[in-house]
Amino acid sequence: MKPISRRTAVTLGGLGLAGTVIGGAGLLWTAQPGFTPFGEPVARSSFRAKTGEPLRQPTEQSSRDGVLEVTLDAAPGRIRIGGRNATTLGYNGGLPGPTLRVLAGDRLAVTLRNGLDDPTNLHTHGLHVSPEGNSDNPFVVVEPGDSFDYEYRLPADHPPGLYWYHPHHHTLAAAQVFGGLYGAIIVEDPQPIPVSRERVLVISDLTLDAAGSLARATVAERMHGREGELVLVNGQLNPAVDIRSGERERWRIVNACASRYLRLRLDGQKLQLLGLDSGRFEKPEKVEEVLLAPGNRADLLVTASEGTTTLRAVPYDRGDDGMMGGMMGGGRGSAGAEVTLATVTVADAGGGSKADALPALPRQATPRDLRGATVTARREFVFEMGMAGMMGGGGMGFTINGREFDGGRVDTTVQGDTVEEWTLTNTSQMDHPLHLHVWPMQVVERGGRAVDSVLWQDVVNVPARSAMRVRIAFTGFAGKTVYHCHILDHEDNGMMGVIDVRPAGQPLT
Ligand code: C2O
Ligand code: CU
Ligand code: CU
Repeated sequence: MKPISRRTAVTLGGLGLAGTVIGGAGLLWTAQPGFTPFGEPVARSSFRAKTGEPLRQPTEQSSRDGVLEVTLDAAPGRIRIGGRNATTLGYNGGLPGPTLRVLAGDRLAVTLRNGLDDPTNLHTHGLHVSPEGNSDNPFVVVEPGDSFDYEYRLPADHPPGLYWYHPHHHTLAAAQVFGGLYGAIIVEDPQPIPVSRERVLVISDLTLDAAGSLARATVAERMHGREGELVLVNGQLNPAVDIRSGERERWRIVNACASRYLRLRLDGQKLQLLGLDSGRFEKPEKVEEVLLAPGNRADLLVTASEGTTTLRAVPYDRGDDGMMGGMMGGGRGSAGAEVTLATVTVADAGGGSKADALPALPRQATPRDLRGATVTARREFVFEMGMAGMMGGGGMGFTINGREFDGGRVDTTVQGDTVEEWTLTNTSQMDHPLHLHVWPMQVVERGGRAVDSVLWQDVVNVPARSAMRVRIAFTGFAGKTVYHCHILDHEDNGMMGVIDVRPAGQPLT
């Protein structure tokens, strides 16, 4: 282990904290844990906030007669977190922004107003809509003070499910999402899922300084992917969730963290996964835990039995601790201690199970299966982190097939209406969750083994030093968009490529 610099030693002494360590290049791993929710200092490796207020739901806006028109004001603002004032970013003064509820076939019109000091834009993560013009176009730039009218037309067969929106301006995506800019989008089920109650849980993280302002990410955090000291559910620290025994709730969970993985557990309760991302399973799957990489969503049924339990994120090693040779002494981010996200109290409802009284879960549509499809092209994407520039203080190179993002270059040209097979190879020591806009991916092979179920995701985690194989049907739309690592700092550092899907039947040039 390299000696700790004097500056860090002073910091450690002042805080009385172990575990804040410095890398060889003089990089401080953490921001100062100065924010004190509920008047208590945040002890970073064993953070458990007191149970807060009841879990709130974000405000909702629903479509009517096929249309939802909303204005999203992206701006800094004062909010309360853990009983204290904080200054964060938010849409319409909230964190998270409003939940947008639409139906397949609807038109969603969003006026984005930029009240930030930096350029921004809007991405509707997971929606199967056009990537062009004023639809889900990641190349749009909305300057400070300007506004932009987006319009998304959902096809009539758009899959129901949970999606989300967030900014996507290259180099600023991590900071803006981390700052508080995100919200859920729900495409309603054609046939309702019978539950006692539905909740949206947008999980995010951020770091605040002692004054309650957003802490700046360090160089090291931007390399690893910043993970916040506070992990929030709908903007709340450890909110209270009350259920009565026998009730069946539907939890729609978004991992809106810029880089943190959420390995979620809710011990003592019956958990059934309806689906992940836009992929709905034919039958709900009984699970003990759910791993959500940044950007992933879970559609979860919780059937409650009496008792008190916690929704926890238990440690997941995404490889970043090992990367610097254990210099940071563990306890950092999602690989460190578990985090209590919410306290769930299930009261005795007295007499029979309410879930039994609910109608049976409707059978879901049989998902498309590309395992038997004709594959038109096979490609390999190699995710690499170059150490080259690092010791010179230039940070690391984050590349896909050896190249950093260049918005003016097309990396992958695809013929519309074809099925492709992509091998995603991660040569680095850190996980990279690959996300493709507009077209979901069917995971067909994981670490060399065939997947024996139909698994559709729009963020596919590729664990360190391993490979995944996916198939994609490039149907419905044509145009240019992006694929990237959804550790948003990696995306901002260049781990993103441009894909151009050419209209079906038009020759590739
Ligand atoms: Cu959730 Cu390209 O992003
Ligand atoms: Cu996306
Ligand atoms: Cu990455």
